[in-house]
Amino acid sequence: MQYANLPTDPAADERPLAAGVVGASGYAGQELVRILAGHPRMRAAVLQARSDGFEPIGAEGLAGCDVVFLALPHGESRALGEELLERGAQVVDLGSDFRVDGWTYGLPELHRDAVRVARAVANPGCYATAAILGVAPLAAAGLVDGPVHLDGKSGVTGAGRTPSEKTHLPEIHGGITPYAVTGHRHLGEIEQELGRLAGSARPATFVPHLLPTSRGLLVTAHVRLVQPLDQADLDDLYAARYADEPFVRFGGLPAPQRLAGSNACWINAWADERTGTVLVEAALDNLVKGAAGQAIQNANIMLGVEETAGLTAQGLWP
Ligand SMILES: NC(=O)c1ccc[n+]([C@@H]2O[C@H](COP(=O)([O-])OP(=O)(O)OC[C@H]3O[C@@H](n4cnc5c(N)ncnc54)[C@H](OP(=O)(O)O)[C@@H]3O)[C@@H](O)[C@H]2O)c1
Repeated sequence: MQYANLPTDPAADERPLAAGVVGASGYAGQELVRILAGHPRMRAAVLQARSDGFEPIGAEGLAGCDVVFLALPHGESRALGEELLERGAQVVDLGSDFRVDGWTYGLPELHRDAVRVARAVANPGCYATAAILGVAPLAAAGLVDGPVHLDGKSGVTGAGRTPSEKTHLPEIHGGITPYAVTGHRHLGEIEQELGRLAGSARPATFVPHLLPTSRGLLVTAHVRLVQPLDQADLDDLYAARYADEPFVRFGGLPAPQRLAGSNACWINAWADERTGTVLVEAALDNLVKGAAGQAIQNANIMLGVEETAGLTAQGLWP
């Protein structure tokens, strides 16, 4: 006799899980490979890219994988992602092709239950992860008045490894460079998620900047409130929202340079009662909680593995 909810082979629960990494020669792809090297259950079984030394990109070569991570440039994931789904694969896309009104939005702190039953997950953008987690407690409590104003600063790995004038050392060294001042690609997913939390549209402005560093990003949010909130109530709101989250750290002065290699998002919020505004800082490593780490967090949840597996490293500091 068999019971539907019991594994027929108890050892099957502990077998190694095979991951495919598509775009394995890129920054996000290599970060997936690095983290998977220390994962207790999942291993990088297939590495695909265009460069020599990798397998060619294509769904057929990924047939034996329990999960496939797509770490391809914007616009390159759609056809392969859809083909993989048709073939019955479980997929986490690190790009932006499926984030808005597409696949399950893989921000586990907001959508853990949906990720658990999803076959296809759109991993959030790096800035978007910090912005949404930073503002989520206020949006969910219905406290946000008017547009949310966001300012972002990121190391240049956020732009990928293809050289460009924008990321060339003499152009960025010793400076800070604004870009995409209106209409950055992450705005759509930020507004989508803050709107879902608030129950009505939440417009946002977002000004990103490039810093002359490799990793790490910081998002500052300026949020007008519908009613005053003192610091003690604000602290309680955030502490309660994130108390059980293994990858959200609350308090202190969030600083991305202390998070390199860690899957943490470090958040704090200050009540500015004089202006009726809350100021939020949210920091993370763009390649870990902003990309590969969060993708593995999602895959752990999808495959029924401990959510923190492979992701317990502390940030490098100094
Ligand atoms: N970097 C970050 O901080 C970050 C954070 C969150 C999300 N993401 C997203 O993750 C994805 C990968 O980003 P990345 O920073 O790892 O990019 P990347 O360093 O430029 O790597 C791109 C990868 O895609 C492969 N590729 C396949 N088709 C390509 C094409 N037509 N043009 C260029 N490359 C192609 C490249 O292979 P070859 O090198 O062999 O050509 C390489 O393996 C992007 O969608 C990005 O938005 C990145």
